Order: sequence, then C-alpha cells, then structure tokens
Amino acid sequence: MDYQAVLEEVAAHARPYVRQGRVADYIPALERVSADRFGIAVADIHGEVYGVGDWEVPFSVQSISKTFSLALVMAQSHGGHDDGIWRRVGREPSGTPFNSLVQLEAENGIPRNPFINAGALVVTDRLQTLTGDASTSMLHFLREESGNPDLAFDQSVADSEAEHGDRNAALAHFMASFGNLENPVPSVIEHYFWQCSIEMSCRDLAVAGGFLARHGLRADGSRLLEAREAKRINAVMLTCGTYDAAGEFAYRVGLPAKSGVGGGIIAVIPGRCTLCVWSPGLDARGNSVAGAAALDHFTTLTGWSVF
Ligand code: DON
Repeated sequence: MDYQAVLEEVAAHARPYVRQGRVADYIPALERVSADRFGIAVADIHGEVYGVGDWEVPFSVQSISKTFSLALVMAQSHGGHDDGIWRRVGREPSGTPFNSLVQLEAENGIPRNPFINAGALVVTDRLQTLTGDASTSMLHFLREESGNPDLAFDQSVADSEAEHGDRNAALAHFMASFGNLENPVPSVIEHYFWQCSIEMSCRDLAVAGGFLARHGLRADGSRLLEAREAKRINAVMLTCGTYDAAGEFAYRVGLPAKSGVGGGIIAVIPGRCTLCVWSPGLDARGNSVAGAAALDHFTTLTGWSVF
C-alpha cells in the first residue's frame, strides 16, 4: 500500500469539508484554534509513519485521552484478570451527548461506557488509585510511546477546563454519591482536565496508538495489553468512541475510532495501522467534520474497514 499517495488523495477529498462545522468554543483556549487546519497521519504496525497537511502540528487531544486512560487501567489491572473497572462502568453505547447526566440516576451512578465523560471520570479515578498521579502517568506513557519527549500539558486549557468545569464536577459528585469514585472529586476532575489538555500532533497520536493495531504490543515490542484486551478497547471504540454518532460513524467509516472536541480522531485498523486525523470544525455531536470525511474516504479507497 502506498500510504503517502492514499493520504494525499484522502486530504484532497476532505479539503472541501475543512471549515465546515464549529470549532469548540466552550473554553477560550480551544476557540482560538484556526478552523483551516487539516492533517492526517498513518503509523503502520512496524512504526513507519506517513502524513499530509498539518500532521505535525500539536492540538488538544481532549477526549482522545480517554482511550489511553482506559488502556493504562486495563494494563495495570493484573493483566486484565481483574474485571474491577467493568463493575464500575458499562460498555454499551449511550445514545446521549458525551457530557449528559440523564442516564446516571436511572443506572445508579454506573456510566454507560468509558468514553462518555462520566465513564472517563471513573477510569481516571481508577488510574489515580493505581498510579498516585493519573495525568502524569498518562503523559509519561504518551511521551514514551510516541517517541516525542516534548509532549506536555497545556496549562491554559487545563485551567479553563477547570473554570468551566461545572458539568464534569456535577457528573463526578453524582457518581460519588453512589459510591462510584475512590478518590475525592476535586482530585479526579483535576486529573481528568489535565489529561484532556495534553497537546499532541496527528503523528504523535497515530504512533502512540500503535498498540491498538498491534494487538496490545507496545512500540518496543513489550506487551501493554493482552490481545483480547486490545480487542475489547477497539470494540468499545467502535460502539462508543464517537458518542451518539457511533452508529453513523460505523456506517460511514467502519473502524474503531475515538474523537475529541479539539478536532482530532484516532482510528485503528487492527493488524495494519493506526490513523489520526485532525481538523477543528465539529459537527453537532462533537466530531470533526473533515476528519470523519477523511476516514470515510480512507476506508473507501483502501477497502480496509473491519467490515
Ligand atoms: O470534558 C470535556 O467536556 C472536555 N474536556 C472533553 C470533551 C470531549 O473531547 C468530548 N469529545 N468530543
């Protein structure tokens, strides 16, 4: 496969969609990002990386971090034999927006899945218990796995998330009232805001997400996850990774994927490669418009969806 040629064609196809949608404006630090940006990168399972456009420009990973927090918790839970996290968070699509409160009361403080905000807060809470410093342990993992030692938190993003964090605080307090948090709410939401604020490029994310395409093996060949655990993360990405648009996304793209309101989306082709696309204009569900168009075209051109 000539990845570079495919990416050029995908970028040309996605170009008319760039600037469509709305750049996230719930915090000033995200609102300032130019809607013109578009980048896409592919990292194959052997570590070769290809990219087009703004593929080396860092952006706010936001909810893409939820994939890595889940992987780190599963990796540290006794090789996956401890199903503890799955007693505290489900694995069904929610059909509701990523920051919704409505299902939590009816479902006794157990979030539907780890990729909506409530579920991600539970995962971060578990990572905090396991590591003593959830966000820093994630940053260190991402630096190592991407091979980019310069990865960092964006303090202005983390600060403004906290300033506008009432909804996430409400979700966390509500779950705490059901006994579904192990750490104090302020610490859980702080680590969650820090992990969302990490800045990475398409290149960094495609490389760091390689273990999902390598059935759990890290870049250095060591094992992060059992193959069945990597399969499970990919499955939850497919069914829940793009929120209440997961059905539409599977219909169009047909790959495990995780989006973030910074405009990034990572997608996995198990056994072959990990992709990351970035363009800040979002649809009403919080997914990048040009990013989804690009991934749609990628699987159409290559025939490499999981279906
Ligand atoms: O917690 C929040 O609402 C944001 N920091 C992240 C949300 C997000 O990226 C959802 N994605 N589409």
